[in-house]
Amino acid sequence: MSYNLLKGKRGIIFGALDENSIAWKTAERVHEEGGTFVLTNAPIAMRMGQIDALAAKTGSQIIPADATSEEDLANLVEKATEILGGKLDFVLHSIGMSVNVRKGRKYTDEKYDFTAKGWDVSALSFHKVMQTLYKADAMNEWGSVVALTYMAAQRTFPDYNDMADNKAYLESVARSFGYFFGKEKNVRVNTISQSPTPTTAGQGVKGFDGFISYAEKMSPLGNATAQDCADYTITLFSDLTKKVTMQNLFHDGGFSNTGVSQEVIEYFTK
Ligand SMILES: NC(=O)c1ccc[n+]([C@@H]2O[C@H](COP(=O)([O-])OP(=O)(O)OC[C@H]3O[C@@H](n4cnc5c(N)ncnc54)[C@H](O)[C@@H]3O)[C@@H](O)[C@H]2O)c1
Repeated sequence: MSYNLLKGKRGIIFGALDENSIAWKTAERVHEEGGTFVLTNAPIAMRMGQIDALAAKTGSQIIPADATSEEDLANLVEKATEILGGKLDFVLHSIGMSVNVRKGRKYTDEKYDFTAKGWDVSALSFHKVMQTLYKADAMNEWGSVVALTYMAAQRTFPDYNDMADNKAYLESVARSFGYFFGKEKNVRVNTISQSPTPTTAGQGVKGFDGFISYAEKMSPLGNATAQDCADYTITLFSDLTKKVTMQNLFHDGGFSNTGVSQEVIEYFTK
C-alpha cells in the first residue's frame, strides 16, 4: 500500500546489491511512496550485483562510489543534487563488510589491517557520508539520514566478530553527528537496529542459520524482514517523524527486550 509519504522528496540510497538487500527493498518502497533517488554502491558491487535492474524499475540513475573515498563521496553528492534537481531530503547508509569475517579470522585472532579496512567500510564511512553532505550543505531542512546496525553493538554475539565494534562506532557517530546536523541544519540522524536478515552480508556471519532461528523464537513478533525494515525506514524519511533524532531504534520484533521466550524454555526442558 502506498501513502504518498515521500512525494517530492529526493535522496541517495547506498548498498543495494541484489533483491535480498535491505537497501533494495527500501528503494522499492521509497519509489512507491513517490520519492526520487540516486542509487550508489562500491564500483566492485556494480559488477557482482544486479543494481541495473533496480535502477530501471525505479527510474533511478546509478553513481558508483566507494563509501570510504572522500573524493567519490563528494562527486556522488554533487552529481546526485544535479540529477535530482535540488538538495536532498533522505539518505540511507546500508553498508557493512568485515574482512576478518570474510577471511575466517576469529575475534581473538584479528588481522589489524583487516580490522581497519572493515571499520572504514562499515563505520567511518557513515561519518564520511555525513561530513560530505554537511560541508556541501546538500541536505534540506528536516531531512533524514538513516544507517543500519545490529544489536551486537550492545550485547555480545561471538560470531559477529569485529562487526560488533564497528556497529558500536556507527551508532556513536549517529549521536555525535546528529547533534551538529540537528543544531545547525535541522537534519535528523538515526540508526535502525534490525533483526538478523538473510542477505549477502547477513549470511556471511558464521552460524547464521542457527542465529536467525534463535532470534525468531526469542522475538514475540518474530524477526523483522528486509521488507519490514523498508517500511520502517520510509517512516523515518517522512515528515511524520521530524523530531526523532540521535536514536538507535530497535526494529527486531521485541528481541532486544526479551529475556527468554516460552519456546526457548520448552526447547531446554525436553
Ligand atoms: N543482514 C542482517 O542480518 C543485518 C542485520 C542488522 C543490520 N544489518 C546491516 O544492514 C546493512 C545492509 O546489509 P544487508 O544485510 O542488506 O546486506 P548486503 O550485502 O545486501 O548489503 C551490504 C552492502 O554494502 C555494500 N558495500 C560494501 N563495501 C562498500 C564500500 N566500500 N562502499 C560502498 N558500499 C559498500 C555492498 O556492496 C552491499 O551492497 C549493513 O549495514 C548491515 O550490517 C544487516
